Amino acid sequence: MYNESSDFLYHEKEVNSFYDLFNSCGISLSPQMIVLDVGAGLGMHAAYLAQKFSEVYCADIINYSTLYDRALIKLLEEKYRRNNLSVPMERIRFFETDATNLFFENDFFDLSISINSLEHISDPHQALAEMLRVTKPGGYIYISFDPIWTADSGSHFFHLVPQPWEHLLLNKEQFIAKMVCSGASNDDVKDFSEGINRFRLSQYENIIEELLRNRKAILEYKDRYVGTIEPDHMYHPNYERAISIDFGRLELLVRRLRFILSKPSHSFNRKAIFWHHSHLFRNKIHQIIAEILVRRDIARLELIRLRNRKQF
Ligand SMILES: C[S@@+](CC[C@H](N)C(=O)[O-])C[C@H]1O[C@@H](n2cnc3c(N)ncnc32)[C@H](O)[C@@H]1O
Repeated sequence: MYNESSDFLYHEKEVNSFYDLFNSCGISLSPQMIVLDVGAGLGMHAAYLAQKFSEVYCADIINYSTLYDRALIKLLEEKYRRNNLSVPMERIRFFETDATNLFFENDFFDLSISINSLEHISDPHQALAEMLRVTKPGGYIYISFDPIWTADSGSHFFHLVPQPWEHLLLNKEQFIAKMVCSGASNDDVKDFSEGINRFRLSQYENIIEELLRNRKAILEYKDRYVGTIEPDHMYHPNYERAISIDFGRLELLVRRLRFILSKPSHSFNRKAIFWHHSHLFRNKIHQIIAEILVRRDIARLELIRLRNRKQF
C-alpha cells in the first residue's frame, strides 16, 4: 500500500546520498546554483532540492500545466505541508519538455541531475547530450537510476510478475498476459510497453565512453550497485536460463548505475587537454578497480549460490 511519508523519506534519502557523493568527490554545491532535474516526475526530489538551491527547474514529459485540473502547485504545497516540509515554492518551476530536446538555452544550469529516469527515456544518449548542452562549462551532471532492464526486477512490474528476470525470458505479449492476470491496469501495460527503454548495461557504458572519448564530458565518478532485490534470486532457475540465452552474469546482477560528469570549459587548451587525459587515466584505473571489486562480489555470490543450491 502506498505510503506518502515513506515515499518522501525515500526521495530525501536519494537527494542526501547525491549530496554525500559530491561531498566525497570534493565537489562543493553552492546555494546559488541553478539546478535542472530531468525526468523530475511530481516534484518529490524538488522539495529537498529547493531547500538547498536558489532555483530548481523540473523537466518532464508530464503535462504539468493541465495536471490535476491546473492545480498541481496548490496540491503540491498541501502535500509538502502534510509531510511537515517547509519548501520555498517560489524556487521551483515545472516545464513540460522532452529530455531529448530540452526547452532550455545552452550553458544555463550549474547542475543537471536525473534520478530514476534514464531507463525510462527512449534515447538516453540524446538525453545526456541535451543535459550537457544546457549545463554551463565547468558545471556538473549527476545521474542515478535503477533497476536497469537486465536486473532481476528490471521489468519495473516485479510486484505483478514476481519471478526474477521473467521479462527477459518471455516475449512482450507473454509478459503482458502475466501482468494482466495479476491485475495490471491499462496504464501499467502502457508503461511496460512504452515507458522503459530496455537498454542493456553495455549500451549505457558505451554512451558514457563515447562522451568521454569525444571530450564532451569528464568523468568525475562512476559506480555500479550489484545485487538482487531478494537474496535467493540467484538460485532461481531463471538466472541460468537468462545466461543460456546470452545475457551476461554481470549484467544480470548490476541493478544501479550512478555517475557524475562535468562539462569541459570552452577553452579546451593544452593544459585542459592534459587534465582531461589525466582524468581519463585516473578514471580508467578507477574503472579497473571497480571491475575487480564487482567481479569479486559476483564470484562471492556465485560461491554462496553453489553452496546453497535450492530447488524452486
Ligand atoms: C520513475 S519516474 C521518476 C520520477 C522522479 N525522478 C522520481 O524519482 O520521483 C520517471 C520519469 O521520467 C519521465 N520521462 C520519461 N521519458 C521522458 C522524456 N523523454 N523526457 C522527460 N521525462 C521523461 C516520466 O514522465 C517520469 O516522470
